[in-house]
Formats: sequence, C-alpha cells, structure tokens
Amino acid sequence: MALGSLLAQVLGRGGVLLLEGPLGIGKTSLTKAICADLGVTDEVTSPTFDLLHLYDAPHVTVYHVDGYRIEDPHEWEILDLPAPEQTGVVLIGEWSRALQPLYPERIDVQMAFCPSGERLVDVTAAGERLSRRIHEEWERMGWALK
Ligand SMILES: Nc1ncnc2c1ncn2[C@@H]1O[C@H](COP(=O)(O)OP(=O)(O)O)[C@@H](O)[C@H]1O
Ligand SMILES: [Mg+2]
Repeated sequence: MALGSLLAQVLGRGGVLLLEGPLGIGKTSLTKAICADLGVTDEVTSPTFDLLHLYDAPHVTVYHVDGYRIEDPHEWEILDLPAPEQTGVVLIGEWSRALQPLYPERIDVQMAFCPSGERLVDVTAAGERLSRRIHEEWERMGWALK
C-alpha cells in the first residue's frame, strides 16, 4: 500500500500517527501496511480488546493503541505510552484523539466513506519537522497537495 510506505518512511524512528474514522474504514489495515514496511514480521492484529500491542522491527518498536474502548481518561496513563521525544519507537493510534495534546509533532489521518463507497483519506502533519518531511515524500510520489 503506497500510503503505508510513505507514512512508514515519514514516521521513521520516532513518529506519531493518529488515525480517525468509522469502524471498518481501514485504520488497522493501514497500520498493517506501515508495520510491514517498518519490517515487523509478527502478525499485526487489532488492539481493540487489549488496547495496546507492541511489535519489534529492526530499528523501531511499534506501539499500536486503540482507544475505542477507553472510557476513563486515566486508562491512557496506565498504557504508559512513549514520551514524545523518545526515538526508536513509532506510535500508531486508532480512536486516539485524546493523545493529540501529548504529541504536538504528529501526523493525523482522517478517513471517511464517500457516498460512492470509495474511501477518502486526509493526511495532515502537526509540527514543522513532520510537515516538511511529509511534503517532500508526497511530492516524490507525484501526489496532489491540498
Ligand atoms: N483501502 C481499502 N480498500 C478496500 N478495503 C479495505 C481497505 N482498507 C481496509 N479494507 C477492508 O476493510 C475491512 C476493515 O478494515 P480495518 O482496517 O479493520 O478497519 P478499522 O481498523 O478502521 O476498523 C478489512 O476487511 C479490510 O480488508
Ligand atoms: Mg481497527
């Protein structure tokens, strides 16, 4: 999946990606594609019921969190997620809007179903470094910019 490769490239060794969109839109599928590109060989499955899955790749550890079932905000603290400046980890969150204030440098992906049934994917970077990186990679792909 081209978008998965691009995001894996941009996330590098210390990136944060927050995925939003309805059930079944492809948040976990995109996470699988990113993990494959990062070199994760374990099977990547939805963390909806366990809240957090960890995967080792050659250069990074991937934290894959799903906030769908989190009701009490304190549950986020129990997960002991990586600090924003921690390198060597990639954090991918589904239903994780609550994490936005903790990670000012991050990529937000908003996914939606069009009436035609097609999937619409909106990618936004927060923070200067990631914005620059994603623009470079986006142009390299020859994709249109907003
Ligand atoms: N880009 C896509 N095009 C077509 N089908 C997709 C796409 N992304 C995901 N799917 C399919 O949709 C289903 C649900 O995807 P999933 O990644 O589990 O959604 P989410 O994590 O957003 O709830 C999967 O069966 C997957 O094969
Ligand atoms: Mg999912």
